[in-house]
Amino acid sequence: MSFPTHRPRRLRRSEALRDLVRETRLTAAGLIYPMFVCPGTNVRQEVSSMPGIHQQSVDQIVEEAREVESLGIPGIILFGLPESKDPRGASSISAQGVVQRAIEAIRKAKLKLLVITDVCLCEYTDHGHCGVIENGEVANDATLSVLAQQALSHARAGADIVAPSDMMDGRVGAIREVLDEHKFENIAILSYAAKYSSGFYGPFREAAQSTPQFGDRRSYQMDPANAREALKEVELDLEEGADMVLVKPAMPYLDIIRRVRDAFEVPVGAYNVSGEYAMVKAAAQNGWLDEKRVVLEILTGIQRAGADIILTYHAKDAARWLKP
Ligand code: PBG
Repeated sequence: MSFPTHRPRRLRRSEALRDLVRETRLTAAGLIYPMFVCPGTNVRQEVSSMPGIHQQSVDQIVEEAREVESLGIPGIILFGLPESKDPRGASSISAQGVVQRAIEAIRKAKLKLLVITDVCLCEYTDHGHCGVIENGEVANDATLSVLAQQALSHARAGADIVAPSDMMDGRVGAIREVLDEHKFENIAILSYAAKYSSGFYGPFREAAQSTPQFGDRRSYQMDPANAREALKEVELDLEEGADMVLVKPAMPYLDIIRRVRDAFEVPVGAYNVSGEYAMVKAAAQNGWLDEKRVVLEILTGIQRAGADIILTYHAKDAARWLKP
């Protein structure tokens, strides 16, 4: 039996009906806001390709973190722009590093916000790669101890969750081992398990000053054409001790989010990255798209695909728009 008995439009007649039968309910409760910490005081420099997003010194980070918390967003993820760079990313493990000091300042301000840290070398190496270089290549095993020490320094400063984004093999296990050795067995690992080698990271590399000085990231980040491989990456990271996993970017990889959600029983996050944000902002500024409408549609789509957690530069705007 079909039309005229069945009329799907009956349930779309009013907002009350549409609201009653809505399958995906987007709230701020799953959003994470990314922030960029730089040296100095009173620094607040907008990233030109990411309108509304700033590189900020620790004092300013605390102020914006307070605002983020007041909007009902549960957490932030911190990226660092260090004072100095070298081949091994030494500034990434310093207790005096920008990220470490930002975490401490947020803790001191008694914010309840979850503090997640991005664990990677690309912002801290002079060559801009996510690992140390040996014989002209990004050396996997030699990078692991630096990543683990970086994660440990974040935990010591008071981070709740560490999020390795480097895509070295074995880094989750290496980080878990060092955290446990130092009695940080309760610090969770959110691994960027399925991170693709993507053109959508362009604006981020301006924001984080992390463009590779030679070559590209294709020898460690995933080929955009592969889906089965994402499931393998997730499986390996979970075996090594990841508590949650991320798919990144989000919009071109909704199928990956769905497959990971269906195949594993852990929280799944998606990173709605800088290039996805920049496209929406540019179109909105030209009057070509209704920003509020498309942002909420994008985030709803990412959640509908299966993401429990969404890292997004739109988090503050979305939280305001979603306020009951
Ligand atoms: C660092 C890192 C990157 C992003 C998050 N962590 C950049 C990269 O891998 O080049 C991208 C985030 C974004 O584009 O918003 N490894």
